[in-house]
Amino acid sequence: MAINKVMVIGAGQMGAGIAQVCAQSGYEVILNDVSEEALEKGTKGIEKQLARSVAKERITENEKKETLSRLSTSTQLEDAGSCDMVIEAVVENMDVKTKVFGDLDTIAPAHAILASNTSSLPITEIAAATNRPDQVIGMHFMNPVPVMKLVEIIRGLQTSEETYKVVEDMAVQLSKTPVEVKDFPGFVSNRILMPMINEAIFAVYEGVASPEDIDTVMKLGTNHPMGPLTLADFIGLDTCLYIMEVLHDGFGDSKYRPCPLLRKYVKAGWLGKKSGRGFYQYQ
Ligand code: NAI
Repeated sequence: MAINKVMVIGAGQMGAGIAQVCAQSGYEVILNDVSEEALEKGTKGIEKQLARSVAKERITENEKKETLSRLSTSTQLEDAGSCDMVIEAVVENMDVKTKVFGDLDTIAPAHAILASNTSSLPITEIAAATNRPDQVIGMHFMNPVPVMKLVEIIRGLQTSEETYKVVEDMAVQLSKTPVEVKDFPGFVSNRILMPMINEAIFAVYEGVASPEDIDTVMKLGTNHPMGPLTLADFIGLDTCLYIMEVLHDGFGDSKYRPCPLLRKYVKAGWLGKKSGRGFYQYQ
């Protein structure tokens, strides 16, 4: 099956990045969001990223123009009716995602594949909101999408071999490295990353060392490019808490319990870089 036209739903930090790499790789892309403001912010961000790539001579001015000519925006989910593939990147909330997938099932053409960029929610449950669970799959990009090479591809219980193959080929077409993952809480990336971040937060909570010193230990001592607390601020502390809760509920194991300090920061509205304050303060 050939994929020519893609709808990306959700124009936030992930959706805009996914739309950009799809358009740069030659796909026709519709970036969809319920909010006009988000679409404007998303497309401005893409234009800025492409202009930076031109300035750094990674792409030509002409390539930038062609990429932008393949990109359009929409607030109407009905526009998915002309797409071969939909990649959903709306908020990490099961009710919102199942509503979007249920609606898409009635709008998208019968052959269309419906993918979710969820970072932790079960693909099998999202697929159950449709009458085509064999054509539903997880396509988990990493942040920032234009830079990070990995895409975790998650098979739901009923995902077909054909759907998997088409999505794997598309990931390669996007110049990403696909890795196949079964549908378990947190998949692979967040199952390993989030408990480490949570443990770093416990170390702050217990007064073992300051956030700066914990990050320095992990950068210089274990060769991580970024300390776990800086990374947590970058991901968003609300997202970190949400994923820890998915791991805790999904496995029922106390080793995944979210640190009380993480809960406290989220309750205070300290969500990391996006809110101006997390473990560090931002302008
Ligand atoms: P975000 O909050 O930046 O963007 C979400 C966007 O979805 C917003 O623009 C919102 O207006 C829109 N939206 C909400 N409901 C909608 C609907 N029904 N229809 C259309 N648009 C709707 O969120 P972000 O960070 O981009 O995350 C999106 C998804 O990607 C989540 O599932 C998240 O878990 C996943 N993810 C996030 C990563 C991160 O580092 N932030 C990394 C990998 C995956």
